[in-house]
Amino acid sequence: MPKSFIAGIGMYVPENVVTNNDLKKYMDTSDEWIQERTGIKERRYAKRTGETTTTMGIEAAKIAIERAGITPQDIDFIVFATICPDYYFPGCGVLLQRAMKMKEIGALDVRNQCSGFVYALSVADQFIKSGTYKNILVVGSEKHSFGLDFSTRGRNISVIFGDGAGAVVLQPTEQEGKGILSSHLHSDGESAEMLAMFNPGTHANHWTEQPLASFNDSEIADMFMSHEMIDKAQNFPVMDGPAVFKKAIVKFPEVIKEALAANNLTTDDLSLLVPHQANLRIAQFVQQKLGLRDDQVYNNIQKFGNTTAASIPIALCEAWEQGKIKEGDLICLAAFGSGFTWGSVLVRW
Ligand code: ACO
Repeated sequence: MPKSFIAGIGMYVPENVVTNNDLKKYMDTSDEWIQERTGIKERRYAKRTGETTTTMGIEAAKIAIERAGITPQDIDFIVFATICPDYYFPGCGVLLQRAMKMKEIGALDVRNQCSGFVYALSVADQFIKSGTYKNILVVGSEKHSFGLDFSTRGRNISVIFGDGAGAVVLQPTEQEGKGILSSHLHSDGESAEMLAMFNPGTHANHWTEQPLASFNDSEIADMFMSHEMIDKAQNFPVMDGPAVFKKAIVKFPEVIKEALAANNLTTDDLSLLVPHQANLRIAQFVQQKLGLRDDQVYNNIQKFGNTTAASIPIALCEAWEQGKIKEGDLICLAAFGSGFTWGSVLVRW
């Protein structure tokens, strides 16, 4: 059975740099608070118009495809991970397929928030291993800046997120030991409401004893989104930060160890851990818990903030461009996010 390997990788971040001090124009916050709690110094925001989640994904995809030595017309499947889709439906995958003039191939959107890229990569890996497809484009892209509460009310979340995109092309290889060794995916829906965006949605307050949003049964047409929901800021993401932190620092190390154990490897064998860039404090905690050296972990949240499904491919691409990843290196990609969902992918480069 062939394995899949990353034949090409690309990233795109918008030009517009937004510092912590810039955010002070909109909300009561400080550079000190943000850096101390999250490690973030700045992030990028896409242009308000002319730049979308899909267009950023396309820019990253163009680079990944060129580096794989193929053309967009060679791509035979798309997996696009995002929680900031251009449209509620259809997904970004088809918009990318159209814009890049690809063939009438399958296009799948993955909506797993921070673990989106790991899930997307795992899905693509199964298609390659089964021999179904030969050139799969996997994209992670987010335009968070369009959907955050920039008032002081939303500051615990809004300061964390940034915009950007990353992409890889997966191809089959028969080379012994090379490629994706295994992937490990998990979920625990018990805490689904701890990190979420409830509206627009069809929940009608079904899942919780405390109403999540204003819902008037006589206004069925407003089920997805009502003026009242907007007035009450119920259209923005919510997060119980301490709860996310507590779970993340347990599940990250667990799923990294699971990947290593499944391949009879240990943390000593690991060349580089590329964790989802959730929060620098989480990554540092994970590093300490696993006893990894500084050169075994790659972080760039300081520059880009948390770009959700895009953070792993952006960090992986940057590390590769900086020569930190070489042929034969053992790379672990690991993510934790809303759901909660978490996962890891172990790759022999
Ligand atoms: N600037 C200034 N003050 C703020 C800000 C801000 N941006 N945000 C919150 N505060 C204030 C709060 O209002 C609160 O003030 P109060 O004590 O007067 O009420 C105080 O800071 C502490 O608020 P908490 O929400 O308890 O903040 P906490 O210390 O937990 O830090 C943080 C928040 C950084 C989000 C932390 O909980 C954390 O690291 N959580 C992990 C979750 C995470 O990083 N998620 C990333 C996205 S999800 C993912 O990728 C998996």
